[in-house]
Amino acid sequence: MQNAPTHTPAQDLLARRINVLGPHTPLFYDEPLHLVRGEGVWLYDHSGKRYLDVYNNVPHVGHCNPRVVEAMHRQASTLNVHTRYLHNNIIDYTERLSATFADSLSMAMLTCTGSEANELALRMARHHTGGQGIIVTDFAYHGNTEAVAEIGTGFMPESRHTKRVKAFAIPDSYRGIEGVAEEQLADAYVAQIARAIDEFAAEGIPFAGMLVCPDFANEGLLNIPAGFMEKATALVHKAGGLLIADEVQAGFGRTGKHWWAHQWYDITPDIVTLGKPMGNGHPLAGVVARGDLINAFTEHSMYFNTFGGTPVSCAVGMAVLDALEQDNLLENAVSTGDYVAAGLRQLQTKYPLIGEVRDRGLFFAVELVTDPVTKTPAKKQARRIINLMKEQSVLISTIGVHDAILKLRPPMPFQPEHADVLLHTLDKVLQQVSEELVHG
Ligand SMILES: Cc1ncc(COP(=O)(O)O)c(C=O)c1O
Repeated sequence: MQNAPTHTPAQDLLARRINVLGPHTPLFYDEPLHLVRGEGVWLYDHSGKRYLDVYNNVPHVGHCNPRVVEAMHRQASTLNVHTRYLHNNIIDYTERLSATFADSLSMAMLTCTGSEANELALRMARHHTGGQGIIVTDFAYHGNTEAVAEIGTGFMPESRHTKRVKAFAIPDSYRGIEGVAEEQLADAYVAQIARAIDEFAAEGIPFAGMLVCPDFANEGLLNIPAGFMEKATALVHKAGGLLIADEVQAGFGRTGKHWWAHQWYDITPDIVTLGKPMGNGHPLAGVVARGDLINAFTEHSMYFNTFGGTPVSCAVGMAVLDALEQDNLLENAVSTGDYVAAGLRQLQTKYPLIGEVRDRGLFFAVELVTDPVTKTPAKKQARRIINLMKEQSVLISTIGVHDAILKLRPPMPFQPEHADVLLHTLDKVLQQVSEELVHG
């Protein structure tokens, strides 16, 4: 007689994963999710259970979007080579891509990951300015290469901080700076950037620029004080630095009104980096920048990326742009985004656990606090909420310094009917977690 199995298939898979990938490779949820299929805004686990995806921005135009799959298949069955041959796809794609930017951002270089794009942007900025010093926020994540990890203040032990990187406090209108009036906040944060520039000068480290996500997405999708980006950009330029906008997470129409998050402000970056949604899951990323910067850099340093910008990658990138345009997904991000935001604000009136709701298109941050007056981050409750939401078939996650901000960022075909599922489930879960908070 055979012994009854002691582990479920998911537990077996987890054990094998730990053996081969180690215990520190990140996984979501207290009980990890074993997914096997995706379609549009839906994901299916190994048992056939269906989940509403309100988290993943990489499958930007929907999981397994047929247009993207077909384009990938068609080009992969025809030709796939690197970029040292002439091919129409990379030209058609980068022309179309750069047309969504200001005229000065006229050239592109393609890579495979956002990290590579940021690495390239840093190299270009340092080459152009002759400087080394880079300014970021004090909770930044921009990728995982050596140079990019160096500017990642968010997840790096202080012992690894280097002299080439200085940080300013994340500009946050919700918590602000103690003793600083709301209308003075933008100037107070900009003053921190000015101080960092002065410190670089005093330490003999020439300044190269500032690299920020214009949505401050990993920081918590903050409502930044009005005028901050314009003043910060002017200051960086005056000091001879470049502005690098990391749109890896924020770009490709996620914020609805514009193609790019920096277009919400009256600024033009010198370099913009792209990734995640660009290939709907296919590894496609890149840099769009001022032509003079790209020309000067590539003349000095030969740059070749074996898998960056292949005919297949560019066919995929084209299909993503087609889907965004033909399915009116930017317009949908505005209308469905407004619908979700209104629903979240309605929940805020019901649950003091919600300190602030922030939204930009189809990107939402729900700041959780155990006390709306002290604004104490509700980290434990945030974790409980995302796990309970998963049990009830809705996938969300957390962000921010304290991991106490719910991060909602669904694929762009998200509709009001999906929003109703999200809001109804979140209502139930907030009710439960709020009661637990009151009753300890
Ligand atoms: C803002 C931002 N920039 C860059 C990256 C790095 O992109 P990748 O993981 O493709 O290297 C990330 C990834 O999470 C990101 O959130």
